[in-house]
Amino acid sequence: MIIGIDIGSTTTKAVAGEGGFIVKTVKTKASDAVTSATGALGKIIIESNLSISCVEKIIITGAGGVMINNEIFGITTHKIDEITAIGLGGMYLSKRDKVIISNIGTGTSIIEASKEKITHLGGTGIGGGTIIGLSKELLHTTTFEHILSMADIGDLTNVDLLIEDISDSGISFLNKKSTASNFGKMLDTAKREDVALGIVNMVYQVIGMISVFAAKSRDASCVLVTGNGSRNLIGQKILREISELYKIEFEFPADAEYATAIGAALSES
Ligand SMILES: Nc1ncnc2c1ncn2[C@@H]1O[C@H](COP(=O)(O)OP(=O)(O)OP(=O)(O)O)[C@@H](O)[C@H]1O
Ligand SMILES: [Mg+2]
Repeated sequence: MIIGIDIGSTTTKAVAGEGGFIVKTVKTKASDAVTSATGALGKIIIESNLSISCVEKIIITGAGGVMINNEIFGITTHKIDEITAIGLGGMYLSKRDKVIISNIGTGTSIIEASKEKITHLGGTGIGGGTIIGLSKELLHTTTFEHILSMADIGDLTNVDLLIEDISDSGISFLNKKSTASNFGKMLDTAKREDVALGIVNMVYQVIGMISVFAAKSRDASCVLVTGNGSRNLIGQKILREISELYKIEFEFPADAEYATAIGAALSES
């Protein structure tokens, strides 16, 4: 069995691969890379009812991977760069040999992956970390579920300047409910829930638009969304609205948050 461990800036993900397939996934959160990696390995072994002798190899990736330079519990560890891991994981999850991936983690990276080549097209520092950071300051919470439940009942018209605020009709292909300026209205009477939605909306609109431009620049009609940010239902809805306007489809595969760890586990099979 091969274990792929992705030590991300915020969370650590580990998966077990066997014969080119993923058989188990786990998530952990620890303050340092070594504790994250050993904790994730322990969790995956115990939850799978396996012994450590079943593990042939550990392949590490992610921002925290540089901190691991030795064997872990006597098992050989290899490293793979994060962009390659996201590309391989994206192809596995999409079941396609060519795919554009928008990996929404703490920040966001956009990758074009094919059997021949994996290319980092670019990205943005806007991501899940932006939601947490702005929420800490503006909403006085960093609990992700709480931020989302507030956003769920928020009213964007109290925060964003919409096309309908500045024009009697749509502009170009934008409809009246499209955002003209994120936080461009910001009424004094706006509630915390409205601000929560404004934050999530801004983050996903930025990610959606750079993903659209990346896809169009590569003649692609579809973007696979991975990372923890793929699982956010409000974010998915915002990306689907962009999809309708720009005719680029967004796909949210199962196990999207494990894409990077999956790519690591499958990189040598
Ligand atoms: N239940 C959750 N717990 C923690 N973060 C969550 C949760 N749900 C969504 N998130 C968001 O996901 C982000 C982390 O995503 P992910 O684990 O994919 O990133 P990462 O791999 O640690 O970071 P990066 O790839 O940018 O180095 C957090 O910033 C947070 O906004
Ligand atoms: Mg990541």
